[in-house]
Amino acid sequence: MSLLIKNGTVVTAADFHRADVLIEGEHVKAIGDDLKADGAEVIDAKGQFVLPGGIDPHVHLDMPFMGTFSSDNYETGLAALHGGTTTVIDFILQTQGKSLRNALESWQGRMNGNLYGDLSFHMAVTDFNDDTKKEVREMIEQEGITSFKTFMAYKGALMIDDRQMVGLMQEVKEHGGMVIVHATNGDMIDYLVQKHRSEGKLSPLYHYLSQPEITEAEASHRFCDMASYTGVPAYIVHLTCEGALNAVRDAARRGQRVLAETCIQYLLLDASLYERADGAKWVMSPPLREKKDQKQLWAGIEQGSLQVVATDHCPFMMAQKAMGSADFSKIPNGHPAIEHRMELLFSEGVNKKKISVNKFVEVTATNPAKVFGMFPRKGTIGIGSDADIILLDPNERHTLSAKTHHMNVDYSGYEGMQLTGKVKTTILRGQVAVHNGEVRIKKGYGKFVRRNKVSGML
Ligand code: URP
Ligand code: ZN
Ligand code: ZN
Repeated sequence: MSLLIKNGTVVTAADFHRADVLIEGEHVKAIGDDLKADGAEVIDAKGQFVLPGGIDPHVHLDMPFMGTFSSDNYETGLAALHGGTTTVIDFILQTQGKSLRNALESWQGRMNGNLYGDLSFHMAVTDFNDDTKKEVREMIEQEGITSFKTFMAYKGALMIDDRQMVGLMQEVKEHGGMVIVHATNGDMIDYLVQKHRSEGKLSPLYHYLSQPEITEAEASHRFCDMASYTGVPAYIVHLTCEGALNAVRDAARRGQRVLAETCIQYLLLDASLYERADGAKWVMSPPLREKKDQKQLWAGIEQGSLQVVATDHCPFMMAQKAMGSADFSKIPNGHPAIEHRMELLFSEGVNKKKISVNKFVEVTATNPAKVFGMFPRKGTIGIGSDADIILLDPNERHTLSAKTHHMNVDYSGYEGMQLTGKVKTTILRGQVAVHNGEVRIKKGYGKFVRRNKVSGML
């Protein structure tokens, strides 16, 4: 089957031109002026941007966490396609005392047969020991899982110590993988949480006050130092603040390359939300920060110190958030965003002239594909690449609301926000997956993506 996209403006991380795109089967066959193809379905993209499908490398679907499960599963993860994200990378969590294989099988059990969009896995190592060490190579070589997540926080649940971190880094480096990190100081946070609780300070605001900027800055510097010592390709997830960004900048100054992502909410929302009665909606870790941090994050994107804008999509229903109504430390941490990352960044970044449309493509698709071993198969519109393509109308206005979104969560962190720029059509491997809100693929169309070894370079 072939598909011909005509009259659109094709944008990659490097180019911007009026062109037609011919798709045959799952791949891009040709890009050029006035293309013709007998029997092809024609889509008129006049007035629209033709962009690579988004890649969100930080989502948590159906994840057991803080006594419950994140409310979007592999099926409702379809919401990503509505908003132009064609591939996500989800996190497997090793159970302490058990193997990586055991965790992989459990995640595969929930995922298999349920995907609409394409998906890959990061492996979170929460217990690095001699047995785990042996499995690192197996994950990379046999499973195509080439990135290993570590938590420097969530003490008593997911956190590993520096001894384990260095050991994991050495093993991952040897076999061609990357170590990625939730970089906040778990001991400091644990101390502050207990202090606030003992003082009867239990509202969501104290979630924020238990994770001051220094907890993230310190851990980010420490992680960069350990990565420098071991030489492992390194990536910091959900970087939120100036102090942590300075750790990345300091690493660059000494000739080290540490890659980093921020998330859409840290660019657009700030900590004043924690003072609201419904502040639990924005309880996530790290927490939202200050306006001065937002300014630094936009600058970090522009300067290339931050290569990726992800979501850390980890939604919980309001009834789940209410588990912490009497104690902020019991509120499941996480926030819904998988559906609106692309439209939010386009509206607030491109349309408000903070970033170019090429930079938009770079941070939402091309860099995630390059960093995580999927390029040029994914992350660009190039001859032979997967035909993961979106058509975006840069002028259409719309309003975000829990009443209209497709995520399985009963609130929106952006309720009532008006955006300019809407994803009209999402094509995944040559199939129109969603068009004007209508889903045209079936459950099970999505594939697991095995990834290549990673260099830590772009
Ligand atoms: O609050 C968050 N970020 N929840 C998901 C787990 C994590 O730390 O990424
Ligand atoms: Zn995290
Ligand atoms: Zn996360």
